[in-house]
Amino acid sequence: MNDYQQFIANVKKKTGIDLAQYKEAQMKRRLTSLYEKRGFKNFHEFFTAMEADEKLFHEFLDRMTINVSEFYRNAKRWEVLEKKILPKLLEQNKRLKVWSAACSTGEEPYTLAIILSKLMPLSQVSILATDIDENAISRAKIGVYSERSLQEVPEEIKKKFFTKEGLHYKISEAIKRAVIFKKHNLLSDPFDVNYDLIVCRNVLIYFTEEAKHVLYHKFNKALKPGGIFFVGSTEQIFNPRLYGFETEDTFFYRKIQ
Ligand SMILES: C[S@@+](CC[C@H](N)C(=O)[O-])C[C@H]1O[C@@H](n2cnc3c(N)ncnc32)[C@H](O)[C@@H]1O
Repeated sequence: MNDYQQFIANVKKKTGIDLAQYKEAQMKRRLTSLYEKRGFKNFHEFFTAMEADEKLFHEFLDRMTINVSEFYRNAKRWEVLEKKILPKLLEQNKRLKVWSAACSTGEEPYTLAIILSKLMPLSQVSILATDIDENAISRAKIGVYSERSLQEVPEEIKKKFFTKEGLHYKISEAIKRAVIFKKHNLLSDPFDVNYDLIVCRNVLIYFTEEAKHVLYHKFNKALKPGGIFFVGSTEQIFNPRLYGFETEDTFFYRKIQ
């Protein structure tokens, strides 16, 4: 076993996180630059130090999870969701079962709640939002954001659903109540079923091809027939039929009935 493989095995034992399912070159580069910055010579030294230093361990988790997100990320896609995808789903069901997988600090599930509130009473909206990173989930629950993460938010939405507090914006309590946050590892935890809509954006790009194949099948199984899988704007599925999907629109896949 080389230095990195041994590190992968140690991390798996300590956290349950399997780094072997993340693209190796990219992950190795990110982690190497962190340990070098902290003065270590190899993964072995880095792991030994991490065992004794909680702060370093959290720095490692922070570096490997990559939490960047923003409200209405790739705004055109959210417009398609609002104008085309959701009205069609709502024709079939009055209530929708929705999952924002790898939700990071909450911008994505809160965007979903805002959009759904235009189409149905907010009190009927319930979105499950999950991420592997507890720290990101804690921040999501607080719901306070910098101006930068709101750059795509239309002005009237900002006025309606956010309160400005100094340099930051706080999401409204009504939107917060529509989202339930939970810790969940896409690579090892079981998936619930019967979803109408699953949003999983900007995380699959970090996984190996093998891990992605398994996940596409699992997402398909988790959806109702006719349910929609919404992926990130660099995450096109090249052979959707292989996984039981057909293309509904760019970056939206419908589970074949
Ligand atoms: C770049 S963010 C994407 C956030 C949001 N979906 C978006 O598109 O703006 C990637 C998120 O994936 C999460 N993540 C990484 N590996 C994961 C895993 N195995 N299971 C669940 N979430 C994971 C990270 O913690 C991070 O919050």
